[in-house]
Parts: sequence; structure tokens; C-alpha cells
Amino acid sequence: MSRQIVTSAEETQEDRKIDSSGLRPQTLEEYIGQQKTKQNLKVYIDAAKMRGDSLDHVLFYGPPGLGKTTLAGIIANEMGTNLKVTSGPAIEKPGEMAAILNNLHPGDILFVDEIHRLNRQVEEVLYPAMEDFAIDIVIGKGATARSIRIDLPRFTLVGATTRPGMLSAPLRDRFGVIGHLEYYSVEELKAIIVRAADKLNVRIEDKGALELARRSRGTPRLANRLLKRVRDFAQVRYDGVITDRVASDALDLLDVDQYGLERLDRMILETMILKFGGGPVGLDTLAASVGEDSGTLEDVYEPYLLKTGFINRTPRGRVATRQAYEHLGYDFPEDPAEAASS
Ligand code: ADE
Repeated sequence: MSRQIVTSAEETQEDRKIDSSGLRPQTLEEYIGQQKTKQNLKVYIDAAKMRGDSLDHVLFYGPPGLGKTTLAGIIANEMGTNLKVTSGPAIEKPGEMAAILNNLHPGDILFVDEIHRLNRQVEEVLYPAMEDFAIDIVIGKGATARSIRIDLPRFTLVGATTRPGMLSAPLRDRFGVIGHLEYYSVEELKAIIVRAADKLNVRIEDKGALELARRSRGTPRLANRLLKRVRDFAQVRYDGVITDRVASDALDLLDVDQYGLERLDRMILETMILKFGGGPVGLDTLAASVGEDSGTLEDVYEPYLLKTGFINRTPRGRVATRQAYEHLGYDFPEDPAEAASS
């Protein structure tokens, strides 16, 4: 099995199938974790409903797999409106964006995933749409060109991004609500796994769920995916029940270690230690050395390694910490000059 399929946080076809099996929570009440974002959203949704108005535009940002799309679905559900889903790279021309906007109904939620990847011309269609609920269309060319304004229904744009820094200021400023999604705690992930196991009719012991939660990198998408793989293992090799032993054996086989790190995470750390003396090393250099795209490295792999304290970011580049050396079984260089940089 390829590592990409199991542990990359990017959404796969299989994940979308999981979603259609009822795993995705439909209401804020069912949604576990992200307390702050959830509490705020509840107030804004209730207030908009009381006023009979659409919800203000919402931007979610954070690492992949933490529930941005799920929350967009919940917003539509709670507001009792339709959800339209698209993504930054899918819309290439301003006319395509104009057509999507023009087909919306009052109160609709338009979800734009990877919104930082919209090109400039397409993004500019959004400015008047978000601010004045209108689009400006240019008719004709040259001296005879004129602009006409088309009114749109009041809709809600829900944007999602793993790279908030790449959003232009004019776009960022047009969101009234900004929600930062954070990695889930082990306890929250455990509750998500128990809920998912119940929906999938999988028997799981408390300790089995805990073991899976510990090794799912704070990410529900990975937790659900690993749950399915561990279930297969439990069925074929054991009696179908996921105990801590079954979970642990299966995750070892999947090359997911005690911290939830997989082969590429360990390769990143090992490369930093063996090839670059622990760093500092620049992102592009590191990406080239491990044969991975630097954007993926920055969005998908680095946030969790930073959060768990295996690497640090310094102005001169990334450095491997003492914890990284120890986890991989290398001696940490005690030379003060080198140690100071970690
Ligand atoms: N499945 C995936 N993410 C979830 C969450 N945050 N709460 C409940 N179930 C989930």
C-alpha cells in the first residue's frame, strides 16, 4: 500500500466515499472538537437566522484534513440552505466564476476550497460579489466597451485554505468571520474514532481507539482512514474487534510510528540530520533532497512536525530538534553552537 494513500492528509476518492457513508457530522452538535470555532459559528448562525439574513462570509484556515469542508456542509445544513462546492484551481476564467455566482439562490453557501489558488482575474469577480452582491460584466471591446452590473442573491462564501498568508489582502478583508482550525487533541480524536466505528459497525475497544487516536497526527481524516485499514486487519488476522494490540500491530505494518509519523516524515528528519547536520536548511533544498514538492512539504508535513516539536523554524531555515535526534536514535550534537540553533 502506498504511503500517500494512508497517511497523506490530502483528500482521496476513498475519503469521499467515507463521507457518503454518513461519517461526516451534519450538525454543530455532532461535530467534535474545534470548540472555539464552533461556539462562534453557532452565535453567528443563530443571529443570521433570527434576522432572516444570510450568514456573513466565512474563511477557514488550517492544515489539511481538519474539517473545513465538513464545517461548510454543517453551515449549509444549519442555515437550511444549499451547498455548492468548488475550488480555486477549478475556476480558470472570470466568466466561470460569474456563472457560478449568477446561479446561486438566496442564502446559498458557496464553498471554495483552496481559495488561495484562485487567479487574480477570477478573484476580482469576487470583490463586488462579496461586498455588494453584484457582478460587473464588461461588454464589448476597446473604446465601445462598457460595464453592466448584475445583482446577485445574498449568498455566503465559505473559503478554505491551508495557506492564509497567500491570500491577497483585498480578499482576506472581505471575510467577516475567520476560523482557525487546529490539530485535534488525542481525546477528541478518540471520540471521533468511536463515533466513526459505530457508524461503520466496527467493534472497537476503548484502548484500541486510544491507540489509533495517538497515531493519527491530530487529524480526523487520517483517523478515519486508519480506522478502516485497521478494521480490515482485525477482520482478517483477528476476531474483528479492534483492541490496542490489533491497532498497534496494524499501524506498525502501515509504517505509522508511535507519534503518527510515517516514512516521509522520518525521511525528512533523517535527511536534516544526516545530510544537513541538523540544519538550518531551506525548505526548497530539503524538498529537493527528499523528492517532494516544497508546497506539500510546507502545507502537509511541516505543520505537524513543528507542532510536535521535531523541527523548529529559524530565520535561516528549518532545524531538527533534540527530540528528532532521539526519536530516530541519533546522538544529539552537544556542541553549544550547533545545539543553540535548535
Ligand atoms: N468526522 C470527521 N471529523 C469529525 C468531527 N470533527 N466530529 C465528528 N466526526 C467527525
